[in-house]
Amino acid sequence: MSAAVELRGIGKSFGETRILEEIDLAAAQGEFIALVGPSGCGKSTLLRIIAGLEQADEGAIALDGRDVTGLRAADRDMAMVFQSYALYPHLTARQNMMLPLAMRRLNATQRLPLVGRFLGSARSILEEMARDVEQAAATLKISALLDRKPAQMSGGQRQRVALGRALVRRPQAFLMDEPLSNLDASLRVHMRAEIVELHRRAGVVTIYVTHDQEEALGMADRVAVMMNGRILQIADPMTIYREPAHLDVACFIGSPRINLLPLTIDAAGRGICGGQVLVERANAAQGERVTLGVRPETLVVHAEPQALSLKVAVTRFEFLGSDALLHARAAGLDAPLIAKLTPAMATLLQHHGELHVSAAPEACLLFDADGQRIAGTQTSALPASFGRASHAA
Ligand SMILES: Nc1ncnc2c1ncn2[C@@H]1O[C@H](COP(=O)(O)OP(=O)(O)OP(=O)(O)O)[C@@H](O)[C@H]1O
Ligand SMILES: [Mg+2]
Repeated sequence: MSAAVELRGIGKSFGETRILEEIDLAAAQGEFIALVGPSGCGKSTLLRIIAGLEQADEGAIALDGRDVTGLRAADRDMAMVFQSYALYPHLTARQNMMLPLAMRRLNATQRLPLVGRFLGSARSILEEMARDVEQAAATLKISALLDRKPAQMSGGQRQRVALGRALVRRPQAFLMDEPLSNLDASLRVHMRAEIVELHRRAGVVTIYVTHDQEEALGMADRVAVMMNGRILQIADPMTIYREPAHLDVACFIGSPRINLLPLTIDAAGRGICGGQVLVERANAAQGERVTLGVRPETLVVHAEPQALSLKVAVTRFEFLGSDALLHARAAGLDAPLIAKLTPAMATLLQHHGELHVSAAPEACLLFDADGQRIAGTQTSALPASFGRASHAA
């Protein structure tokens, strides 16, 4: 079966500036793909190219195996939801949802306000459209708002109308560009679940742009991490988090951020930081500059020095309710280290001014000087070490 949405070798420049480079992506039927990356990396531009609102300089786009590269937005069967909702302020919710249907289903004569109303063909189409709008409104729980204008609605309600307008068209693909970023935190979390549920019920391929890595990991079947106009990695959320292919992916995904420790490799292939051996066997040559990445929840904290541990000075403990963060500094390291602990463990350790940290071999991510993941340093495939609690004091 052909992919629902397929991009091959997409490239784009604005003037002299290269914005997108060699983008390949194949989204399967019914798949939810998140495009995530820092501001300015080209996410919206790519989405607009998929929608047909922008033309690529190179590459091809196919929908269900049909080449649509040269087609206008109106001739690609996709519905786009924007961050700004893009509702018409002078139209009610019902009219806002009806408009794209009218544009698709009625011809020019049928659309004329005075003439169209009296045409039999238009009347039955209008009735059908009204039913479709009612149905979408019921799904989104906005039936009571259909006669209000955008100014009379909250941000969340407006966003729901914008989603309804996309949903009602029953498109071949949903394209969403940061649809939740104007909402407050709790509503955002709530709407995340609603969008995932809508997607599941509609079964339509969805490409969802966000700069919020948590949103991407939490919602998508697969996450594409974009940086500087390229897709650095595309994989399921667990793989992106645990097996990042590039240092930039490791740093962008995960909060608090992954700890980075510069290593020098000795003659025996050991990775050394601050005079301490931290990695027994690194798959790198002597003298090579290697970066060790350790996620805050896999950094193991000890009260006494251990084999493969590094001495750190405690900066502070941060209690966050369900867990706690240890902030610490190691001699010779610019950035502070962060370990995620249980509150109980943090309480136990909080009077120590000095502690020792180590990284379990299976939790060590090694990257070469170009930021590429060094093969042969695999994290454990067992979900058991996800959110590990083995902080030996
Ligand atoms: N029409 C345009 N003309 C010139 N440059 C543009 C145009 N549109 C976007 N750009 C530039 O292209 C780059 C990518 O922009 P884009 O909007 O795709 O980023 P983004 O990843 O969506 O960022 P954000 O997360 O801030 O929305 C930016 O540097 C932007 O300034
Ligand atoms: Mg954008």
